[in-house]
Amino acid sequence: MIFATFDPEAPPLPEYLGEMTWYLDAFFDRREGGIEVIGGMHRWVMPCNWKFPAENFGGDAYHVQWTHLSAIKTSFSTGVVTKPNATGTMVSPGQGHIVICVGPTDVGDPPVPEILAYEREIRPEVEKRLGSRLGLVNPIVGTVFPNFSMLRATSRTFRVWQPRGPDKTEVWSWFYVDKAAPPEIKEAVRVAGVRGFSPSGTFEQDDMDNWQECTRTCRGVVSRRLSLNTAMGLGHERYDEDLKAWASDFRISESNHRQFYRRWAQLMAAESWAKV
Ligand SMILES: [Fe+2]
Repeated sequence: MIFATFDPEAPPLPEYLGEMTWYLDAFFDRREGGIEVIGGMHRWVMPCNWKFPAENFGGDAYHVQWTHLSAIKTSFSTGVVTKPNATGTMVSPGQGHIVICVGPTDVGDPPVPEILAYEREIRPEVEKRLGSRLGLVNPIVGTVFPNFSMLRATSRTFRVWQPRGPDKTEVWSWFYVDKAAPPEIKEAVRVAGVRGFSPSGTFEQDDMDNWQECTRTCRGVVSRRLSLNTAMGLGHERYDEDLKAWASDFRISESNHRQFYRRWAQLMAAESWAKV
């Protein structure tokens, strides 16, 4: 992965990512050789503000059972019926980066039998590479502030949310898989990806409907008079020394949303990096 910026004043990448680096590794550096992209890039335009998908991937664990109920019930995305995970932690490693983690022994992978068997097989290697923090949390979906998101559960995808004005977002999306995975696993990940998270995927369509309608609703006369309420789980955040992140209750929490928008507000108000 190559990150770049046009801003000569921007902090160096390791500093910008900070503690998010470990969480990125939990998606992309689980095996020797890292990852590879499967196929090409999906690219499409959605009628929504870019911040909706960015906050959704990093903080919105509570929409899953409502928004995706039909996809979960029919098992259309992966072929296997599962129940959404009930345990986990909302994690903010700082500087607006946000991650949703399930419990350390919870399934955080596309629930396809061959993918789950592969995950069991590679677990010792993954544990060795990622260390003891993996015994505390299992990161499944997140956003590197501001607009780069990644997902491991349901599908394996990373994407950039490119703003095309206040109410339009162009998605650049890729599927990825461990480079060292056998061909049948790469194919299973590709199929799970197309079914769940692509312009025609069940989960992706559900999500896009929310983002588009939220954007439209926020433009209304009455909505504009009121502040958006993101107080869910307020007061439950704590800094967790072992996770090296702010942590809060799983699912029913907007702790990560608050971290994301706090950073956004800081950067929008600051005259320079030095003043952030
Ligand atoms: Fe979703």
